[in-house]
Parts: sequence; C-alpha cells; structure tokens
Amino acid sequence: MDIDFWVDRWNTGQTGFHQPKINPYLAYFYGEKGPPPAQREKLKVFVPLCGKSNDMLWLAQNGYRVFGVECSDLAVQAFFQENGIACRVASKDEHSLYVCDTESHPDYAAIEIYQGDFFALQSDLFDDVTDVFDRASLIALPLEMRRDYAAKMAELLKPGTRTLLVTLTYDQDEMNGPPFSVSEEEVNELYAEHFSIQKLCFKNIIDDEPRMQERGLTSLIETVYKLVRK
Ligand SMILES: C[S@@+](CC[C@H](N)C(=O)[O-])C[C@H]1O[C@@H](n2cnc3c(N)ncnc32)[C@H](O)[C@@H]1O
Repeated sequence: MDIDFWVDRWNTGQTGFHQPKINPYLAYFYGEKGPPPAQREKLKVFVPLCGKSNDMLWLAQNGYRVFGVECSDLAVQAFFQENGIACRVASKDEHSLYVCDTESHPDYAAIEIYQGDFFALQSDLFDDVTDVFDRASLIALPLEMRRDYAAKMAELLKPGTRTLLVTLTYDQDEMNGPPFSVSEEEVNELYAEHFSIQKLCFKNIIDDEPRMQERGLTSLIETVYKLVRK
C-alpha cells in the first residue's frame, strides 16, 4: 500500500474514514481533561496522516498549535477551503507547506500542514512538538508499514512527547483493511522499546458502525492509549 493508493482514494471520493464530528477522545482528553486554555499555545500537536480532519480545526480553535502531514494535495486543499481558512503555500524540502494565514484568523492558533510523505519528514521539525493525535493513522497501514511508522515516530519525537493513540481491533478474517486491526499485543510490540504505554479506555463500537457491519464485522473494539516517548 503506497501513497498512490491513498491519492487515488481521495481523487475518487473514497473517504468514508473522514468524520464530520470532532473525535470524542480528543475533545475529552485535550478539552475538559486538557490543560487550561491559557497554557495551550505552548503545545504543538502533530497530526500524522491527517487527511482533512476537523480535529485539526478543533485543536486550533481551542488554542493548540497544529502540525499535520498528509500525502494528498486534494485533502489538504479541501481542509482549508471547506473551513474557509486562508492559507499560504511554500516549498519545504520534499513537501509543500500550507500555513494558515493568522492575520485573517486571529482566533485560531497556528496551523501548518506538510503535504507529502510522512516517512520523508525530518526530525528538526519536531523540536517544539509536544503532543501527537493519532486517529486512523497507525490503523490505516498494513503490518509491515506499521512497524516502519512506529520506528519513524520514535526517530522523530523528542523525549516526553505524548501521543493519544486510537486503535481498532476486530477479527481480521471478517474484513480486509484498511482500517486494519491492531491488537494490544501489537501496540506493545511496536512501541514498548521507546515509549511508555498506558491503556486509557476501550469500547465495543460495532452498534454505531453500520458501514463496518455491512463489511462483515460482528465486533469492533476501539481502544485509546497514551504513549510517552522515553
Ligand atoms: C484513514 S485516513 C485518516 C485521515 C485522518 N487521520 C482522519 O482521522 O480523518 C489515512 C490518511 O493517511 C494519508 N496517508 C497515507 N499514507 C501516507 C503517507 N505515507 N504520508 C502522508 N499521508 C499519508 C491518506 O491520504 C489518508 O488521508
């Protein structure tokens, strides 16, 4: 599964993973359980494989600086256009960098999205990244790529960086990914060497997922972890 697979999905409108609503775990752990609003501008949240996620808008509206990466140009442009956000675009090494025009949007914290390959990001971009929000990013990738993804995260993130990781677990014989099933054992295998891992909560969400039921699933466990780079 390479970047062309995803670019084609965006170009052909196969984006059922996009959620119009804000992720409830993000709203809980970075909203009511998060730091007070006055302290949030010090925090910069990396959103890997970000698509046109509205979670980025929520973060910026709630005072967090946002740094996304997404391979599809169409997705990045849609994020800014659909939310009516003026932006500037510049070339930055192997990526195109889209930056929210903060003069036009003084009520938002900074939003930067690197359009291009996550695996080509350089670690100097992560000096001031404090947090990562991973929803439908790790689980978008097949096993071999998940190993590369976790290793790349360990390479990029500074010690102390927190990650809120949302995974899905289901019987992989009932459905082909993406999204792929990622077990708790696998989360430990992928991350334990370089991250501390805390399981925060889990829930069977199959009754709320008619699309997944149509694809053959009988159970779908959503699990949320907090990882901290050692
Ligand atoms: C399942 S979607 C999830 C999008 C987003 N996290 C959300 O919650 O809506 C996975 C996204 O990763 C992007 N993607 C896949 N591989 C990538 C890569 N190597 N570099 C950057 N983006 C990538 C795809 O284009 C797609 O938008």
